[in-house]
Amino acid sequence: MSTATLVTDTVLSKPWFHAAGEEDKQWLHWLMAAEDQDREKRMRQVPRAVGRPPETQEERNWVCGAWAFRGRGELKGLCSASSRAVAYYNPDLPTLTFLFDHISDESHHAVEMIECASRWNPGTNYWTDDPEWEGKWSRSREWTPPPPGSGKFADYLLEILPTETGGGLYVFPYYTFAIQLQELIDFGDEVVHSDEATHFVFFMWNMWKLLRQAKGTERTELESQLLQRYRSNLAALDNGRMQFWKEVLIPHCGADPEFIAKIPELRRSRFEFILSSLGVSEPL
Ligand SMILES: [Fe+2]
Ligand SMILES: [Fe+2]
Repeated sequence: MSTATLVTDTVLSKPWFHAAGEEDKQWLHWLMAAEDQDREKRMRQVPRAVGRPPETQEERNWVCGAWAFRGRGELKGLCSASSRAVAYYNPDLPTLTFLFDHISDESHHAVEMIECASRWNPGTNYWTDDPEWEGKWSRSREWTPPPPGSGKFADYLLEILPTETGGGLYVFPYYTFAIQLQELIDFGDEVVHSDEATHFVFFMWNMWKLLRQAKGTERTELESQLLQRYRSNLAALDNGRMQFWKEVLIPHCGADPEFIAKIPELRRSRFEFILSSLGVSEPL
């Protein structure tokens, strides 16, 4: 059995897909096959660095700091977004099971990164925010809760979709850095892929269903909101998020500048794939 078939079976066996009807199942299979091709195409452009562990204290501070920062970000950003969805957007029960699972997956990723950084740089506390990292690189976004009873799941999807489908700014896979923590070099791409493939498919499926149900102006409105989210995500990338790569990951973690220069374009074509998979075709 191919890896793609295995991933498809694992993903679709999750409880929140059990109630999918025939049409939905067909779309889900189509999506996973298309995603597999798109992913392969992208991965061919990602260089595989011959990684070595950090050797000096300065290298440890940078590399461990970067991974712990990322771990804290997954915990606070993604787990909090799911918690808000549970609290404010009134999800149905299968969605609720997914959201709890998502919190568990993402907090597990977070712990893995933070603990790994702590093992490589003993004596440093990576479990609290650090002004050197959060103070410089976090994008803290204000979030206002919707008035009681008015939160729509669509709003949560619009918020989370660009993040969960854009793929971590190509920090994954771990082998793109020349200086790397050994566990992360060894960490199988399939392990990351299986969790993230589940999240990807679930979020895409929900957006596809919303678009299918929306009629007339409601659909036009939803499509334009979706396009708007992706556009602002790309704009944020162009206007500053690449700085983290340029100022931290290239000089201190051995990321390849030639590859880094391609990230905005890779991201753009990824978003085009996402939107065309959802049947939203206006060019970016
Ligand atoms: Fe994650
Ligand atoms: Fe995820």
